Amino acid sequence: MELLQRPRRLRQNESVRRLTRETRLSPDSLIYPIFIDETVSGTYPIESLPGQLCYGLDSLDQAVEDCLAHGIGRCLLFGRPREKDPFGSSAWAEDGVIQRAVRAIKARYPDFYVITDVCLCEYTSHGHCGLLQGQEVDNDQTLPVLARAARSHAAAGADMVAPSDMMDGRVGAIRAALDERGYQNVPIMAYSAKYASSFYGPFRAAAGCAPSFGDRRGYQMDPHNCREALRECALDIAEGADILMVKPALSYLDVIRACRDAFDLPLCAYSVSGEYAMIRAAGAAGAVDEHRIMCETALSIFRAGADMLITYFAKELAEAIRQGEIG
Ligand code: PBG
Repeated sequence: MELLQRPRRLRQNESVRRLTRETRLSPDSLIYPIFIDETVSGTYPIESLPGQLCYGLDSLDQAVEDCLAHGIGRCLLFGRPREKDPFGSSAWAEDGVIQRAVRAIKARYPDFYVITDVCLCEYTSHGHCGLLQGQEVDNDQTLPVLARAARSHAAAGADMVAPSDMMDGRVGAIRAALDERGYQNVPIMAYSAKYASSFYGPFRAAAGCAPSFGDRRGYQMDPHNCREALRECALDIAEGADILMVKPALSYLDVIRACRDAFDLPLCAYSVSGEYAMIRAAGAAGAVDEHRIMCETALSIFRAGADMLITYFAKELAEAIRQGEIG
């Protein structure tokens, strides 16, 4: 009886509750995705992601200042190029949208940490994440192209590259290409356990990268599987990954926990576009308290074992941490 009473005392007041929290959040563990459109000046609202903006190359200062004002010092860049072709050439062009954006940001804000998404789907006319051989993605032909894209990001000044294509062997190919040119210090955050998920819908509308035929199940993971995620992580580690990632986050908390327990590398979770859009929509409909749901959701991802979180709510979460609502 006595023992049963004890834990209750630790819930008595705010001070002791804060003292005994098992999960700690900090703006330092949040990464904010930024969309950049080469064809526009200024900004425009992203319809599929209410509250999110797409930035022209002339508006990057605004994007960064807004992050800094909220205490967010790290971003993940996605590009909307002017030109697409079957080979995704603008993914590695020296004057491609991401390469130009990175140069511009790093020139003005050298301490703002810039991670670049490395993939072809935003740059290919067919919208697949790799080169095609007929109707199939050709894994091995794609590797040198991804490596070239990653190297061009590093050359532009990217602090870290994050391959999201899910081709087999890409981490090794990118690591070799970076090292060869002297970018040994540019880490790789591998989208290791990236599932073939319907939660990416709003992102594909925002980035204009939905596949024009078929789907991505040939290279992204089957949502039925968790052990497979461990195999994917182990391969990425062997190939030289510095940070592992599980994506999406909310429906894959078990995978986050399994990866946390199995590996000692830093672990990132990506709370993807559909997760954000659902919370926004439910909030707008008056179904839930959006702010609290946002906080609770982020907490659950860290509690599951993530060390860091990519989220469209990064600024709002940083504010909630500052206010002491979570953290
Ligand atoms: C590119 C990529 C996608 C996302 C991140 N990088 C889309 C996809 O794989 O179809 C999704 C991110 C999100 O939904 O927020 N391959």
